[in-house]
Amino acid sequence: MSEICEDAPYTAGRSADESVPASTPAVPDYMREIYDWAYINPRLVPLLDRQIVVQAILWGNANRLVKTAVDEFSPGQSILQPAHVYGRLCAELASRVGPAGRLEVRDVTPIQVARARAKLAGHTNAIVIHADSARPFDRKYDGVCCFFLLHEVPDDYKTKIVNNVLDATGPGGKAVFVDYHQWRWFHPMGPIMWFVFRYLEPLAPSLCASEIREFAGDADGFTWTKQTFFGGLYQKVVAVRK
Ligand SMILES: C[S@@+](CC[C@H](N)C(=O)[O-])C[C@H]1O[C@@H](n2cnc3c(N)ncnc32)[C@H](O)[C@@H]1O
Repeated sequence: MSEICEDAPYTAGRSADESVPASTPAVPDYMREIYDWAYINPRLVPLLDRQIVVQAILWGNANRLVKTAVDEFSPGQSILQPAHVYGRLCAELASRVGPAGRLEVRDVTPIQVARARAKLAGHTNAIVIHADSARPFDRKYDGVCCFFLLHEVPDDYKTKIVNNVLDATGPGGKAVFVDYHQWRWFHPMGPIMWFVFRYLEPLAPSLCASEIREFAGDADGFTWTKQTFFGGLYQKVVAVRK
């Protein structure tokens, strides 16, 4: 059974399962100001949290982007997913690492923590933690799967999250970032994406204007590879710790 807990310190002398958290992470301003409808509104969230919706939002590419992310990991590994993702990513990651592995999903929004917990209820190897991924992680993982999180956070969060993810990647481990990318000028979806970014995803253009490694303080400590998809609209960046 999956667990849910907070990232605040636990009462001394009690196990994490028994303890009461001292505080809960605040929902960041950008979540309330930009993404309330998408990730907080309790009427809309259940409607949106479906693989078919994600598939539509990503122009039919969600399944292959999930697959290319999950394929980076192996049975027996410990994997961090620093934000919940609509659809089936977390269940597929839990299945990929298998009973000898461990999946830890974190999210800063209580309703998203609950969604992840429900999806992972049948996975004894998974834990869901209510936490802000802009705060440092307290352990190392074999891998981190950061799926379409960076384009939704302000630049200071991008920097913190990228560096926290890299810091949490253990020796020989890999951090996998799947997200938007600057598409080619003649991309047929370009005008629609301009509209989407302008009105729905205002924090995304700065991600597309940069390489993800540019947010990293210790970029040279990793070997970086980048693959693009769908005319350059999406990217998978893999950073393997040297
Ligand atoms: C991963 S992103 C977008 C993923 C993708 N668009 C989808 O289909 O779900 C959305 C998630 O990130 C979470 N999130 C945003 N900022 C976060 C932060 N600083 N720490 C942890 N989770 C965060 C939101 O609560 C939400 O569940």
